[in-house]
Amino acid sequence: MITLGYNGFSQSAELFAKLYQRSGIDRHRVLGHDAGAALFIDGELVAAVEEERLNRTKKTSDFPERAVAWCLAEAGIKFSDVDRFAFPWAFTEEVVDCQLRAAAESDKPVAVRFDELRRLGELYRQLVSRDAILADFRQRTGYGLPAERLVLVPHHHAHLMCGYHLSDWEDAAFLVSDGRAELLSSIAGEIRDGKITVFDDMCVDIKNSLAMLYSKVTRYLGFMPNNDEYKVMGLSAYASVEPTSNPLLEHVITLHEGGRYSLNFANETLDEQTYYGMFDRIFDRASATDEREFQAKVAWMVQQAVEVVTEHQLRHLEARTRLPRLLLEGGLALNCVNNSKLLERSTFTDIEVGFGASDVGVAIGAGAAASGRRPTRGRTTPYLGPSYSDQEILDAVRPFSDRVSWTVLGEHEMVAETAKLLRDKVVVGWFQDRVEYGPRALGNRSILANPSFPDIKDVINTRVKHRELFRPFAPVVRDTRAAQVFDMGKKTTSPHMTFVFAVREHVRASIVGACHVDGTARVQTVSSQDNPMLAALLDVFEEQTGIPCLINTSFNVAGEPIVCSPADALRTFLDTEIDYLVLGHLLVSKQA
Ligand SMILES: [Fe+2]
Repeated sequence: MITLGYNGFSQSAELFAKLYQRSGIDRHRVLGHDAGAALFIDGELVAAVEEERLNRTKKTSDFPERAVAWCLAEAGIKFSDVDRFAFPWAFTEEVVDCQLRAAAESDKPVAVRFDELRRLGELYRQLVSRDAILADFRQRTGYGLPAERLVLVPHHHAHLMCGYHLSDWEDAAFLVSDGRAELLSSIAGEIRDGKITVFDDMCVDIKNSLAMLYSKVTRYLGFMPNNDEYKVMGLSAYASVEPTSNPLLEHVITLHEGGRYSLNFANETLDEQTYYGMFDRIFDRASATDEREFQAKVAWMVQQAVEVVTEHQLRHLEARTRLPRLLLEGGLALNCVNNSKLLERSTFTDIEVGFGASDVGVAIGAGAAASGRRPTRGRTTPYLGPSYSDQEILDAVRPFSDRVSWTVLGEHEMVAETAKLLRDKVVVGWFQDRVEYGPRALGNRSILANPSFPDIKDVINTRVKHRELFRPFAPVVRDTRAAQVFDMGKKTTSPHMTFVFAVREHVRASIVGACHVDGTARVQTVSSQDNPMLAALLDVFEEQTGIPCLINTSFNVAGEPIVCSPADALRTFLDTEIDYLVLGHLLVSKQA
């Protein structure tokens, strides 16, 4: 059986801009963001790519025309070979009835209620109804997919199935938390003997979305909501004094029996300006003398609020399920600081957060749900996207022969040569094999550097990344060395950069450039099975220098998607001051 999971709408950006003014800094607050496609053959995930890597628009919500076409071409199949098309949104009649009732029965003025009903109608007819999804597919692909082959998978179920499919666990508790699904923002439950049970009394609706509150604070601090939450998380470590009280926990959030919570100023009931006025009051902006200190304080408060609320959810979940392990999915699971604290404070022996935890993963999850089978090979690799032959790489480089020179090296020589280069204060673009899936570069489209230089962060920022100076760069380490370098608590590996760990005191000086201000690091562990070439590079680099890690940051410039093709890599290499580019078997340098 062949199943194609996909996410994205042709008209989402346009409709949300028109109906809800979601444009500019709010342009990612739409349905279908992080569009992508994933192909399953007989239950095995064989190909997946995010649309942004191909259309070069970060976090695009567009119909994933290129991603779908690439998945089919990769497998050598046609649309008519696909048995099921799976889409990670299910606005069924029952769901829409609930939406209409909530809008009609709210206590807002009549004119406002009519407006909301009109917007819901327009979204339903043009975007999320089954007919609209079928019409979009036909219009963008030219293929009239038979209605009976389209499977609409509830959004949170798609998140859960993504995590379940990518892990190799059989039984597990789960917590899914994100900005919004169809009606809910968080679900919890368990998978036991293959049967999924959602604990209905732990569900949280959209109005009380914790992730949306985090996004509102992100926006309040001047960052881009639904995109920059990780910056707020990073900023929270800069609070010079940990506040003794937290107005979000005192005035905004109420914890309830049974693991639920609610927001006293429910999302969507206040307009943005009123909300920010409320933040001004509770955070006492008027008394702030130093904007940076104020921002760090607010970031610390919202970070602490998320930690307290999710811990509250876990307390009840662990008592109820008694299963030892937890799958954590949804956009909130990208909060790696929280993930680590949750694990250490809970009775769960392990928490898994997959590389598709945020909405990138729902194309995979929808496909997994519709294909109905678990993989047979254990944990699934994130290296699922396009790769390029030596000939394709050479064809991409040749037009630039007046600006770059290159040497062709075997894999062993390339590893040795790159390790040698990285002894110095250089920035290396590292491009190998298949594109990784998900928001983190996991060693196939990465920028690498030596973390022992105290100013390496500034060097990378000046030469290529141009990002906020408070944001840390992350280390990659061999799985066999990780526990000696980091205090990993209950974790033994962290292959997807979804946890942070304290850097052990005795190695801090040697990886100072990969340590955050609080002495932690968001670690990627790599095994020789996961990524043999990167693992070999780490081994040789440590042999030569005694340094157990490299800095691994995504191969892109601020605001752009991670590079996908050799042409993308060359363009970024030439537009920035990256010193060397390892492009498959080519070691590329700039001509003087
Ligand atoms: Fe989501």
